[in-house]
Amino acid sequence: MNVYSRLVTAISLASLISLSAHAGEVEVLHWWTSGGEKRAADTLQKLVEAKGHVWKDFAVAGGGGEAAMTVLKTRAVSGNPPAAAQIKGPDIQEWGALGLLADLNAIAAEQKWDSLLPKQVANIMKYEGDYVAVPVNVHRVNWLWINPEVFAKAGATPPTTLDEFFVAADKLKAAGFIPLAHGGQPWQDGTIFEDLAFSILGADGYRKAFVEQDKATLTGPKMVEVFAALQKLHGYIDADAAGRDWNTAAGLVINGKAGMQVMGDWAKSEWTAAGKVAGKDYQCLPFPGTQGSFAYNIDSLVMFKLSDAQNRKAQEDLARTVMEPEFQQLFSQNKGSIPVRQDVDMSTFDACAQQSSLDFKAAAASGGLQPSLAHGMAASSYVQGAVFDVVTNFFNDPKADPKRAAKQLAAAIQAVQ
Ligand code: GAL
Repeated sequence: MNVYSRLVTAISLASLISLSAHAGEVEVLHWWTSGGEKRAADTLQKLVEAKGHVWKDFAVAGGGGEAAMTVLKTRAVSGNPPAAAQIKGPDIQEWGALGLLADLNAIAAEQKWDSLLPKQVANIMKYEGDYVAVPVNVHRVNWLWINPEVFAKAGATPPTTLDEFFVAADKLKAAGFIPLAHGGQPWQDGTIFEDLAFSILGADGYRKAFVEQDKATLTGPKMVEVFAALQKLHGYIDADAAGRDWNTAAGLVINGKAGMQVMGDWAKSEWTAAGKVAGKDYQCLPFPGTQGSFAYNIDSLVMFKLSDAQNRKAQEDLARTVMEPEFQQLFSQNKGSIPVRQDVDMSTFDACAQQSSLDFKAAAASGGLQPSLAHGMAASSYVQGAVFDVVTNFFNDPKADPKRAAKQLAAAIQAVQ
């Protein structure tokens, strides 16, 4: 080997070493697998890869994330958790207590998370005062999605009250459409139940029932009304709803087979992916009777302690990327949510996101901002699971008694407290 080729070898070795010193692998567990949500997840992957890291996708299909959480527990128990996982709300505290989470305080200080995030949001991301998770976005759960063309064909009017909702549903049914596109999975049943409770109990009653888990509210006449409304609503879904995924249900509205869907605004990711325009091809309405209120669902990535220095660097860059304005905008525009940072310019967002952002601020000031129960923000996953059991059993039994269901609800929650 002459001097020249030795030099070339040395240089390429050096650049290889510096490349590998820079590149780390970051494994991210999430359940963003629908067509629209995958596009959103891809934006994160690209931005992380642009920082020189290797993205290892750990996607576990299943809306609401129940399957993903089961897989995560298995991995964590075997001492091999991923670098990051979508874990939300009070469950972050449970994971924090296990002592498995990484401390993100240095990055939070560098990027000034405390001043960029609403206090309520920052607190959810901390365990015993230390940041252990980075917030991704803010979803609103109390939405109703409408196909205006279907409504016009049926002579139906977009509803603002629950009574109007049932009037519209009757018109859609009479015209031969599926009034309400629904997927019969516990978390989807739970989402509808939560929206009905938000509407009938109001923000205050909702908080008493699901955040404070107040027995009198859980068994009271308004809760009985909620179950009665849920039973009535069952008459407007189609016979094939059992087990259907939420994005397939969204597809029924997009394709003009159904008139409405009750779903959080990740449903918008499907409309966006289908090239449909908010306010023109589809309408987003606050769920009837919840105008001005906002049931929030904040996606967040919890970071696990890692031993490999390069992977740790990749993990830190992942956390940084999530809070950068570029990601906040791109991700939410594909996902259907709004940025969690309060300083992002909303002018490039669609009409639904702009309304969501305004309503979030107004609801925060008025007390109408409440955590979603069905999406793990109001209570632990144990309480959430107990509610789903009661609600799904009730929903699937046409003869079930609303009064009894309210009592069962309180008892089921009490049993897991
Ligand atoms: C929620 C999650 C959303 C969305 C939805 C459907 O729990 O926060 O990001 O993925 O489930 O799976």
